[in-house]
Amino acid sequence: MPDEGEAKSGLPHLRVDVLTLFPAMFDGVLGESILKRARDAGVLDVRLTNFRDYAEGRHKKVDDTAYGGGPGMVLKCEPVFSAVRAVLGDDQDAHLVLLTPQGKTLTQNKVRELAGKRRIVMLCGHYEGYDERIRQGFPWDEISIGDYVLTGGELAAMVVIDAVARLLPGTLGDETSATEESFEQGLLEYPQYTRPPVYEGMAIPDILLSGHHEEIAKWRRRMAEERTRERRPDLWRQYMDGGAQG
Ligand SMILES: C[S@@+](CC[C@H](N)C(=O)[O-])C[C@H]1O[C@@H](n2cnc3c(N)ncnc32)[C@H](O)[C@@H]1O
Repeated sequence: MPDEGEAKSGLPHLRVDVLTLFPAMFDGVLGESILKRARDAGVLDVRLTNFRDYAEGRHKKVDDTAYGGGPGMVLKCEPVFSAVRAVLGDDQDAHLVLLTPQGKTLTQNKVRELAGKRRIVMLCGHYEGYDERIRQGFPWDEISIGDYVLTGGELAAMVVIDAVARLLPGTLGDETSATEESFEQGLLEYPQYTRPPVYEGMAIPDILLSGHHEEIAKWRRRMAEERTRERRPDLWRQYMDGGAQG
């Protein structure tokens, strides 16, 4: 049994608790590909809790109509408070994430920050959202995955887990593939090619066949900069303001 905070391999690991009404939604995503590998290696430990289990009464009701009227149902305080407290136990420093379109938009910087945590507890909303006192009751880091509204927080939680997991040491195998990617250096990634060298009349740039690693690195840098300037003037401005780290 690895120590708390350490994977079987001796690498640090991240525990993520997700509080959701629909735990089965996570099966496919957690059971395939790189996330499965990360979990098998013990680098990532995801635990799902259905907070309906903490609802009282025969009907295990988790939602109710909104005071003041209006469409849709609102998530009730009692089951959520009980579930969060039960999952936390006496853990004082787990990082609490509330998934909400009203939160700060997820960025690669935030993903990096989350990847450095020991434990994250995420709450997925549903229906019209949360009773405001759920928001007030805990020191949440409120995160949105973009300016659009999903039916529930589950897909958002999976996006966060996926983005964070690939930064955990040991998940990707080849560490450089995460550090060279879009956003990691304030730039979008350069264009990538694989065999064949010519496909339907489209040839890869000659430089990539030259074998000159230094020249290839310069070309990639130039392409990443061009691409960022053209596609993401907002990122380009930030990059230039921060001083191009060359
Ligand atoms: C239909 S939404 C509720 C939206 C809420 N009425 C509002 O306007 O803020 C239900 C749940 O989906 C999740 N959700 C929806 N959009 C999201 C987004 N962009 N990022 C993160 N979570 C989101 C949240 O957990 C939210 O409580």
